[in-house]
Amino acid sequence: MTLPKILVTRQIIGLDRYQSEFDFELWTEDRPMPRDLILERAAHCEAIVSMLTDRLDAVFFDAHPHLKVVSQCAVGVNNIDLVYAKQKGIPIGHTPGVLTDATADLTWALLLSSARNILPGADYVQQGKWVAWGPSLLLGREVTGSTLGVIGYGRIGQAVVERARGFRMTVLAHHKHPITDSGVRQTSLDELLTESDFISINVPLNAETYHLIGARELALMKPTATLINTARGEIVDAKALTAALQAGRPGFAALDVTEPEPIPVDHPLLKLPNCLIIPHLGTSTVETRLAMTARTIENLRAGVRGERLPFLANP
Ligand code: DGY
Repeated sequence: MTLPKILVTRQIIGLDRYQSEFDFELWTEDRPMPRDLILERAAHCEAIVSMLTDRLDAVFFDAHPHLKVVSQCAVGVNNIDLVYAKQKGIPIGHTPGVLTDATADLTWALLLSSARNILPGADYVQQGKWVAWGPSLLLGREVTGSTLGVIGYGRIGQAVVERARGFRMTVLAHHKHPITDSGVRQTSLDELLTESDFISINVPLNAETYHLIGARELALMKPTATLINTARGEIVDAKALTAALQAGRPGFAALDVTEPEPIPVDHPLLKLPNCLIIPHLGTSTVETRLAMTARTIENLRAGVRGERLPFLANP
């Protein structure tokens, strides 16, 4: 029996479990598959497993109208022209749900390590500066009892809020639909930005959220506030953020995602002591990545059979 040929644009863990079902054509290098190779290789495949680093635009879909499915191994699909794919009749799968907890956990890792100077503290010790306990050494900000503002109250935003309960925080949320949860005050974006001590961005990137946080919004934040972005870099205008952090308002930014991504090593944000940047690790746990692979395969399997995808991004 001939197995369906599937282009997989990056090595993902757990894929070997499905080798009896699919004939995977795998890009094995430790960097995103070059676009010209994706365009070339997709021509003789029934479907493609894509990554958030692949640009799948009108040019791609015009060249490959034969594809039965594009199954993206991520929840975010801002790299794919969903509308155009739909016009071509190509379903796009993604992986919501399985990565909620890992992303919320990482949001909290950034929040706590920024508030309590974990990285500067570790550097201090490593550099041999720790000669005695000091009453004013690396003073941070109190998390317990502070105000958390969540921009976007979807699955991940709610999981971030769930983790705030033990910290007895006042919780504000900005969301396009009504919020009924008790313990969460729904506010306008401006009110949230003005009142919060910690601001977490949890919206998808689309035309409405591109540069949602620009110079005007940053200027509303408290000088002591921390902005945390684990969603997509382009939601925050990086130029405006650099200027705002240089001016000390907000006081700190902790970013798992950047504009551009990856951020060039000479980018001014990397020179600021009040900015912490890590390389898009939100879903980066063994358990979550295995679950993402499994969900990617569920979509792939359905698409290849011509069935409706269980996790369809362009309904
Ligand atoms: C996603 O799924 O969109 C994350 O950003 C990467 O896994």
